[in-house]
Amino acid sequence: MKVTIIGAGNMARGIGTRLLAGGHSVTLHARNMEKAQALAGELSQEAKGGAKVEVKPLGDSLPDEVVILAVPYSAEASLVEKYRDQLPGSILVEISNPIDGQTFELIPPPGSSASEEIAKIVPQDTKVVKAFNTTFASTLVQGQVKGQPIDVFIAGDDEAAKATVAKLVEDGGLRPLDVGPIRRARNLEAFQLLHISLQKQLDSGWMSTVKLLS
Ligand SMILES: NC(=O)c1ccc[n+]([C@@H]2O[C@H](COP(=O)([O-])OP(=O)(O)OC[C@H]3O[C@@H](n4cnc5c(N)ncnc54)[C@H](OP(=O)(O)O)[C@@H]3O)[C@@H](O)[C@H]2O)c1
Repeated sequence: MKVTIIGAGNMARGIGTRLLAGGHSVTLHARNMEKAQALAGELSQEAKGGAKVEVKPLGDSLPDEVVILAVPYSAEASLVEKYRDQLPGSILVEISNPIDGQTFELIPPPGSSASEEIAKIVPQDTKVVKAFNTTFASTLVQGQVKGQPIDVFIAGDDEAAKATVAKLVEDGGLRPLDVGPIRRARNLEAFQLLHISLQKQLDSGWMSTVKLLS
């Protein structure tokens, strides 16, 4: 499969690493081409099965079925606007932790989530899926935590879209867990707020993960 990642920061590195390790090609769309080229060079070392990495400027064409928004929540709405004509038919993966830096509270209003707010503004037939918000970028680069496959919680209203994201997750050596409809993104975002708030106490260098054992 071919996947577009919008952004060239930490999560583009983490998710890109796992996608390429799973044999899926990645196109990075970035406003800083130099930074994105450097990341692409790094990521290409992880590519398996003929997967490729390329870089395009922000706003370039989006031919891929799966598009991952790897940018801060505050930038998401403007990027939906920028790509509006190209989004219908796509799976848009929303990964943010929408936390106010001043108050350390969630930004979306009570009874909503970043993913639901984005789902309200995407064009019709764009399938918004929440995933990867509980997985720190550094753990995705490693691909495991303490020898355990990382859990990736997936929420969305379109079953086929979630199955596609689950396949990408699984191919990258991670464990997908479908947690239900897009409104479950509220729970995922609230839980990750807690996980982030515990980083000092855990003292793991952002190498902890949220995993269900059974
Ligand atoms: N880091 C984690 O461990 C982690 C874990 C789970 C979820 N998340 C979520 O993942 C998302 C990305 O986080 P990150 O850690 O990858 O952040 P990051 O390292 O700061 O990278 C953010 C990327 O977004 C780009 N960007 C920012 N504003 C933009 C705009 N207005 N238009 C276009 N591009 C823009 C940046 O471009 P420049 O390079 O040009 O500044 C950069 O490439 C966030 O929503 C975060 O909540 C992060």
